[in-house]
Amino acid sequence: MPAASPERSRPRPRGETLAVLKFLALAGADQTAVVVTSGEIGERIGVSQQAADRYLVTLEKKGLITRTLAQRRQRVLLTPAAMALLRAEYRTYHRIFEGPAKISFSGKVASGLGEGRYYLSQPGYVLQFSERLGYVPYPGTLNVRVDGAALRKVELVGSWTGLRIDGFQTSGRTFGGATCFPARMNGHLCHLIHPDRTHYKDVVEFVAADCLRDALGIHDDDPVQVDIEES
Ligand code: CDP
Repeated sequence: MPAASPERSRPRPRGETLAVLKFLALAGADQTAVVVTSGEIGERIGVSQQAADRYLVTLEKKGLITRTLAQRRQRVLLTPAAMALLRAEYRTYHRIFEGPAKISFSGKVASGLGEGRYYLSQPGYVLQFSERLGYVPYPGTLNVRVDGAALRKVELVGSWTGLRIDGFQTSGRTFGGATCFPARMNGHLCHLIHPDRTHYKDVVEFVAADCLRDALGIHDDDPVQVDIEES
């Protein structure tokens, strides 16, 4: 778990601004700028042109859209923050209608640089892990190397609500935050740990109450099966 990133605060638009974002996303504004007037947007979501204009100003201020004005029309593009917000909205509906999401993937056990033991021994982390995961973690993280398809599945958990581990500072050093998700590795209970910032792109890390290598009898390059369900 490397350096902390500033806490991300997710802007929460009210119903009408959310309707504008949905309209723009349906028009493809996540890929290329859409040329519209505020009158057209207003008509589409059932508000006046002036009101639609105000919503666009608000969305721009919140960093959810970028726009360039061209005479009476404007070119509007959704930002990655807007797409993250819509994805979170989607997750809520998905959960209402389809229940908790699940992902399964396989990968291969790998060794890292031995930093996990150092991080997981920090009292600032140990306390939070034992409070929020319900156990004192074995000092270290088990690394699992995954391919691109598995990685894309893993990226999906980024929009799930997980168990939050906050970043902190001690003796002039900054320790980053992370989010944990209950998981099973070859059926054994553990947590996938998703650091706020990570440099290993093809490696997923796990924490557990016990040493997973010993508990599962696994070594570097052994295949493992991972199942994660949204909590
Ligand atoms: O950086 P690296 O993953 O090699 O090591 P580490 O995070 O410092 O963890 C120490 C050792 O314990 C590594 O071999 C991990 O794979 C292993 N480990 C484990 O088997 N089960 C855990 N719950 C945590 C770490």
